Amino acid sequence: VGESNSFVVVKLGGSLITNKDVPLSANLKNIRLVARELSRAQSLKPNLRIFLIHGGGSFGHYFAKEFSLGTELSKKYPAEGLAKTSAAMMRLHSIILEELSGAGVYCTTVLPLEIFSEKSRQIILTKGQFGRLNDIFENKLTPLTFGFVNLVKEGAYIVSGDKIALALSKAFPIERVIFAMDVDGIYPSRNLKGPVLKELKKRGVVNSFVKKYDVTGGIVGKISTGLMLSNLGTNVFFVNGTKVGRLSGTIIGLDGIVATRIYSAKKGTRYP
Ligand SMILES: Nc1ncnc2c1ncn2[C@@H]1O[C@H](COP(=O)(O)OP(=O)(O)OP(=O)(O)O)[C@@H](O)[C@H]1O
Ligand SMILES: [Mg+2]
Repeated sequence: VGESNSFVVVKLGGSLITNKDVPLSANLKNIRLVARELSRAQSLKPNLRIFLIHGGGSFGHYFAKEFSLGTELSKKYPAEGLAKTSAAMMRLHSIILEELSGAGVYCTTVLPLEIFSEKSRQIILTKGQFGRLNDIFENKLTPLTFGFVNLVKEGAYIVSGDKIALALSKAFPIERVIFAMDVDGIYPSRNLKGPVLKELKKRGVVNSFVKKYDVTGGIVGKISTGLMLSNLGTNVFFVNGTKVGRLSGTIIGLDGIVATRIYSAKKGTRYP
């Protein structure tokens, strides 16, 4: 992947951009820091195309939990829960748009259904839909999408932001996928003490817990998505978005940033 068209996916985790244990509470301090990091990365590497995704944190996950929505397809989810979860995501989304714009990171909303479609419970992106993404980059904007509630004939289910990163990587080569969170990376132990793992090669080496407001699997889901990404030829990074320099450094590919990495399982696609 040449520099002119290199492509990076950044998933802004709900643990970073919201106060995940407080219902409907955006973490403005962290969002502003993220905005500065993105702006810095963009000015250091103007040709880099960044695709942004944000998670639900205490917005989406809050109502999803209250109404027992999940990632399984079901007809049982109440309309009120589906509506409130979607509305909460839009609210968080507009807060992020505004803050990023204030820092000079000009985004355009990509509604998940604009570019993703569904094939047997898998969110996919088709070539035509990719064209739309290209048009966004040609206009010097950064696409911003988010986890959502998908509605199909047979019912509804939640698609996490992490899974959107996977759909993107299935559609075209992505240099790296970065999961920005409120912790330094993946810890081997569930008390989040000691150094994070530098590199992760398989599941099962990590003890974890799921936060109060999280209906998409928490860190365990993130790790298994990360392993799938690496099998597709993507390098994966779990990085702390609350520490100055780490997100921007990971985006531009600096060496030696504190993070957990899962390297691409394909030859010739390994990056710092
Ligand atoms: N072993 C572990 N290593 C790292 N984080 C862990 C571990 N066990 C539990 N966690 C928790 O997992 C959280 C990250 O996963 P979570 O799904 O909550 O965040 P997110 O993906 O940023 O949020 P969202 O799903 O709302 O986008 C961290 O904030 C941390 O508290
Ligand atoms: Mg999550």
